[in-house]
Amino acid sequence: MTVSDKMNMLMMGRSCVYLDLDNGVESAMIDCIRSGEYQGYGPFTGLPELHELIKEDLRIDTPSEVCVTDGAVQALHHVIGWFSRQGSKYTFLDSDPAWIHSRNFARDMKTKLVPGKITPADISEGCVVNLCSPQNPAGHVYTSEEKSQLSEQCRQVGAWLLCDDAYVMYEPEYGSDWTHVYNQNPERTIVAWSASKIGLAGVRVGAFVCHPDLMESLVFGRANALGSSILGQRAAIAALKSKDKWLSALRSQVQENIQYLVGRLGPLGVTITGHSNSVNVSLPAHRRAVDIAAQLEVRRFEVADGTKFYGMEGYDANYLRVAVSVPRSWLERFCTLFEELVSE
Ligand SMILES: Cc1ncc(COP(=O)(O)O)c(C=O)c1O
Repeated sequence: MTVSDKMNMLMMGRSCVYLDLDNGVESAMIDCIRSGEYQGYGPFTGLPELHELIKEDLRIDTPSEVCVTDGAVQALHHVIGWFSRQGSKYTFLDSDPAWIHSRNFARDMKTKLVPGKITPADISEGCVVNLCSPQNPAGHVYTSEEKSQLSEQCRQVGAWLLCDDAYVMYEPEYGSDWTHVYNQNPERTIVAWSASKIGLAGVRVGAFVCHPDLMESLVFGRANALGSSILGQRAAIAALKSKDKWLSALRSQVQENIQYLVGRLGPLGVTITGHSNSVNVSLPAHRRAVDIAAQLEVRRFEVADGTKFYGMEGYDANYLRVAVSVPRSWLERFCTLFEELVSE
């Protein structure tokens, strides 16, 4: 399928945001183009204004530095690679199931997988704890208290906390004071941040944030050594600066859309799990995700088939992953098609 084919589809499989947000992104990008700013490289670790906005978004108030990357995925690739390159002294500790790419980036490391949520008892010296909340795909949410306990355990035993905060803006506790989670063990806490789940997936902006003492070593040898897209960074700055105008509306719309799915599909015996802008829609026992996803694709609907991405041993991934940060009319059409397909 070509990109232009995809443009004619309703794209609900990749946790993108297709809602009109009053975020000033369009005019910021147009200004960047018209002024010719995009013709040059920017500062190699990103625009200082964006650094400050990312730290503010994450509420990190200890000394820290930011390196802007091409999406959180590149931040994770680089950081996990940094641990891998240091020989066999680290163990990548992840929940099972988890986002497949981080796991792949850790393929040269020892890996320990924990079913469901990670607990302090799972953490020992040399662990690199991959903490994602709300977690993709299972949708687990770590409370601020739980995060703090994991961070404290890392500090006590000499482990590292890698916070994959790609979906952090959908946390039920987003906006409350989490500084203690990052601040408890600042020398060994690294945060990956993403602009994708607030509507900027295509411009590819993310970052990693860490203690200044660590940055010099961590930043070395990264793939985007000449910096990330200026156009994308201008878009991210505009979005973060206007957060007060659109973020709570986005969060509410996502929650309302989840409730809508529950109301429409619940009576079919289907369960909806997840707390971010993508949820998992389970399937009745007689239907396979791979078939339903293929049938939806023919009808110009893109959803993700869980078995393809998260099919791990002992975990039933027979579900569809569906973005809920989309117009209600898309969800209405999805539900109607889904009802038809599962009753066939
Ligand atoms: C858990 C998780 N981490 C990171 C990312 C990467 O986000 P980005 O688009 O910023 O690279 C994703 C994207 O879906 C994700 O699901």
